[in-house]
Amino acid sequence: MPEHYYRDDTVTLYHGDAREILPALGLTADLLIVDPPYAETSLEWDVWPTGWPQLASEVSRSMWCFGSLRMFFDRGPEFTDAGWKMSHNVVWEKANGSGFTTDRFRGVHEHVVHWYQGPWADIHHDVPKTSYSGPNKSARGKLSQTTHTGAIGAHTYTDDGTRLMRSVLYAAAPRKGGHPTEKPVNGLLDPLIRYGCPVGGMVVDPFAGSGAALDAARLAGRRAIGIEGREDYCDSIAQRLSCLTFDFGGAA
Ligand SMILES: C[S@@+](CC[C@H](N)C(=O)[O-])C[C@H]1O[C@@H](n2cnc3c(N)ncnc32)[C@H](O)[C@@H]1O
Repeated sequence: MPEHYYRDDTVTLYHGDAREILPALGLTADLLIVDPPYAETSLEWDVWPTGWPQLASEVSRSMWCFGSLRMFFDRGPEFTDAGWKMSHNVVWEKANGSGFTTDRFRGVHEHVVHWYQGPWADIHHDVPKTSYSGPNKSARGKLSQTTHTGAIGAHTYTDDGTRLMRSVLYAAAPRKGGHPTEKPVNGLLDPLIRYGCPVGGMVVDPFAGSGAALDAARLAGRRAIGIEGREDYCDSIAQRLSCLTFDFGGAA
């Protein structure tokens, strides 16, 4: 059993190669949040860890995976050969772009693809809602109904002043100076975790980086296990998780 680098009531962190540690832990997770090296930069750690989708498929049946469209085109067979089926994707729109080439549109988004295995009905999927009081198109289309309540497909729809979160999530990237590819907790990791993992469930992040997903899971009332290959990043994660943090949303 690998030795942990950091542990508290809800989060455990391991230092090392995820491809060795993940199978050695012998765990089952409700949800994987994976932000792998895309192998598209000159960062020292940005090397595709061949074989990780197969190892991940042995840990959970549900996974959000960050990546560029190029990465998913290039590596797609590694996902599908491992048994992963794609359900859908969201786009993360960030305030500031990455990349400085002048011969193409300034890149201000990344993809997050949801993959699953087995029957869809067995996968926890609870789409977060946002409050909404704007005009309701469906209501306008059914003027004969006095209230907008009715059956749509297999679902009964009631206008309760909310709507499903949209598939483009805007969230400013965290401030510069920390981990170079840190993802924001609020507006991005938080809704992804709430969608795919029940309250009290287990999230696993095999490429933990800054520990943002571990932090997000904890703030949302989920448990988390992280793995990170660089010891200096593990040290930063341990410091981050040791600090008292403000609970932005609780475990709803
Ligand atoms: C894209 S970053 C993750 C960023 C993270 N999602 C965040 O919000 O901070 C990928 C991380 O994986 C780590 N890494 C690369 N190869 C690894 C491996 N084989 N095992 C474990 N960690 C690895 C890198 O050091 C890097 O911190």
